[in-house]
Amino acid sequence: MAGVLARQSSLEARCDCALRCWEEPGSLVTEVLRHRIAEEVPYRAFYSGPRPHGRCLVGLGRGRRGSLWVDLDSCPHLLVGGMTGQGKSVFLRQALTFLCCDHPPERLRLALIDLKGGVELAHFGMLPHALCPVADTVAAAGETLSRVREELDRRLSQVRRSVEAGDSAAPAGWPRILVVVDEVAELTVRDLGDDRAARAAQQAATGRLCEIARLGRSVDIHLVCCTQRPDAEAVPGQLKANLDGTVAFRVRAAVNSFILLDSDRASLLPPHPGRAVFAHETVEEFQAVDCSVEESRDLLLARWGSGMVSPTTGPVSQWWENTCPPSDELSGPS
Ligand SMILES: Nc1ncnc2c1ncn2[C@@H]1O[C@H](COP(=O)(O)OP(=O)(O)O)[C@@H](O)[C@H]1O
Ligand SMILES: [Mg+2]
Repeated sequence: MAGVLARQSSLEARCDCALRCWEEPGSLVTEVLRHRIAEEVPYRAFYSGPRPHGRCLVGLGRGRRGSLWVDLDSCPHLLVGGMTGQGKSVFLRQALTFLCCDHPPERLRLALIDLKGGVELAHFGMLPHALCPVADTVAAAGETLSRVREELDRRLSQVRRSVEAGDSAAPAGWPRILVVVDEVAELTVRDLGDDRAARAAQQAATGRLCEIARLGRSVDIHLVCCTQRPDAEAVPGQLKANLDGTVAFRVRAAVNSFILLDSDRASLLPPHPGRAVFAHETVEEFQAVDCSVEESRDLLLARWGSGMVSPTTGPVSQWWENTCPPSDELSGPS
């Protein structure tokens, strides 16, 4: 049994099927799921279907057993890995689009970091959910992460106060904060040459990221890190150890797949954008939900049109204070 389980992932990828194995007295039973995985999963078709129960659900896509979802309440932080062009940014876009259509800004806030200066996340910075414009420099990313860290401390001390006051119920009512970093290596290991100040800012930002991953889960602060380089330099062990779920798109070499999944599964995925493996409590292959920039913009405009603003050029701190009331002032069930 142990031998089959150890090889299950490779067997599934090589035989293009899903296996479920269990033991019955005297025998090993294997169920083979042969359903093909969809080539494409359009956003509207996926999200107009039924959804499971959960407090902060995000759709992933469709696997052999049907729709696949993750609840950030039970899987607070995600690592999204895979080669360039395999679907990491599309995954972020569809997930953020759904979350922001599904939750009002009183319940969900975004802190976005995209150091490649892409346009993929830019429009999320205009939402009423955005705590600040999308950070596109190491300095701006550092400031964003410091702000999240301060809010984290505020929330932790609020929890401590209520525990001291003998309140068994955790203080609720603060909005979830979702911190998203597209291409985390640009933040953690980008070569900044001799610029000492920038290197110090980079180190500090990496440290904050690790702290948010470690402490955020208990106070509704979530982290999603994307990377094409899953190695220990780009994703420090302390960070990786605290990311609960992994979405692994195709990688070139088995060694990268092992870093992401503890198996060679991601290197055996077909060369089809959007095909990925999700590993949390189980491991499942799926085709990710697709969503173009235009579709995402249209959906968000239809939902939040009047609340959308143009990106400001002001300092991040100013934005933050305008948009994030101190957590003590927030009330109501989460
Ligand atoms: N889930 C998907 N379904 C269909 N096509 C996809 C999907 N994800 C990615 N693609 C295609 O692959 C391209 C690259 O995806 P992208 O998310 O930008 O890759 P990455 O961020 O991993 O470099 C997209 O422009 C799109 O054409
Ligand atoms: Mg990308």
